[in-house]
Amino acid sequence: MRVLVLGGDGFCGWPTSLYLSDHGHDITIVDNLSRRKIDIELEVESLTPIRPISERIRAWREVSGRDIGFVNVDLATEYDRLVEVLEELRPEAIVHFAEQRAAPYSMRTQKTKRYTVDNNVRATHNLLTALAHSGVDASLVHLGTMGVYGYGWSGSAPIPEGYLTVKVATPDGELEREILHPANPGSVYHLTKTLDQLMFSFYARNDGLRITDLHQGIVWGTQTEQTIRDERLINRFDYDGDYGTVLNRFLMQAAIGHPLTVHGTGGQTRAFIHIRDTVRCIELAIANPPEAGSRVLVRNQITETHRVLDLAKMIGDVTGTEIAYLPNPRREAEENDLAVRNDQFLALGLQPTTLSQGLLDECTDVAARYSHRADPAKIVSRSVWRAGMETADDLLTELPARLPEPQ
Ligand SMILES: NC(=O)c1ccc[n+]([C@@H]2O[C@H](COP(=O)([O-])OP(=O)(O)OC[C@H]3O[C@@H](n4cnc5c(N)ncnc54)[C@H](O)[C@@H]3O)[C@@H](O)[C@H]2O)c1
Repeated sequence: MRVLVLGGDGFCGWPTSLYLSDHGHDITIVDNLSRRKIDIELEVESLTPIRPISERIRAWREVSGRDIGFVNVDLATEYDRLVEVLEELRPEAIVHFAEQRAAPYSMRTQKTKRYTVDNNVRATHNLLTALAHSGVDASLVHLGTMGVYGYGWSGSAPIPEGYLTVKVATPDGELEREILHPANPGSVYHLTKTLDQLMFSFYARNDGLRITDLHQGIVWGTQTEQTIRDERLINRFDYDGDYGTVLNRFLMQAAIGHPLTVHGTGGQTRAFIHIRDTVRCIELAIANPPEAGSRVLVRNQITETHRVLDLAKMIGDVTGTEIAYLPNPRREAEENDLAVRNDQFLALGLQPTTLSQGLLDECTDVAARYSHRADPAKIVSRSVWRAGMETADDLLTELPARLPEPQ
């Protein structure tokens, strides 16, 4: 298949591009490299040294013999360029990762709130309009998030895949209806993902676009079978307070002897997926699009759920790292249950890669190898959901004298 990977330079997009290329698909990455610019703005870098996009692509050609295209387009502001790319490349499938994806960054300042909405909503809407008018018949796979359902709203009832069956009282008795699950965004970032859902619903109905929305859990891990083949292909590893995600942060913190940063009680339960399953799910999703004229196909892209404190305890026990209970910078339920249906990907043949010591070790090894690149002043989360909320001081002011030697 000819596949456009929008946001293909990012944490999920890069390994997905390589995986699909390795499996015979013809890949073009479309990315404006904004994520790299945000690193400069935040004065932080991926723990792993990521190479410039042209070098990444050259390295892939050397190790695989396969070409990946790259076009630098800002989907939110360069509409005409986007239409040109679609008309020229005529993709059969488009994978849309290209949004500002960090909830803390989206809550950081007025500027980052506005940027996140402007970027994400405009990028997605531009793409839908371009698809509706260009006559390019590509199915669209978008990366949404489990956070659109909110945490705690359903209690212990399993979260369905996108649609909720409800009973509506009428004068003639009860009617059963399937509605889009109520949106419960917990941040401006999550808000943009719920707005995306409405746009998808409209364009699927009005223009017959074939859309899959993947409600993904928190991705962990860093390397895939492809990114491991050459150091120049290495994937991002974000560990900072804005972009680092919880499990990878714990693994990195353990690797440098930093206390594991649990916010509040750690009673938050979240859904997780390993990066190797992310890439497989994308392949399954592009191979199984909905029919034109049908509603948006929503699939929950998760493999397991865990309580944050349980993860911290598990990693703390294995590595001998202590836990630091820090003030929670987010406004969220202190504790929540979370049960999630993921029947669709299982039925399509996904064999979940669940948390195992081997994979945790692999990730800690990557973190240890590059731990000399860590900046301890970037670890504590300081983007607060409301002005005046308490934050913690740095727990380490410099890296410990003895760090594992880079291999
Ligand atoms: N990482 C996770 O744990 C996670 C979990 C759930 C959902 N998701 C979703 O998956 C997608 C990818 O996440 P990620 O972790 O790879 O993020 P990322 O920030 O590493 O990658 C996003 C990429 O999109 C590009 N981009 C952003 N705005 C763009 C624009 N206007 N035009 C062109 N390119 C643009 C960035 O430069 C970056 O390379 C996001 O939509 C995110 O919401 C991620």
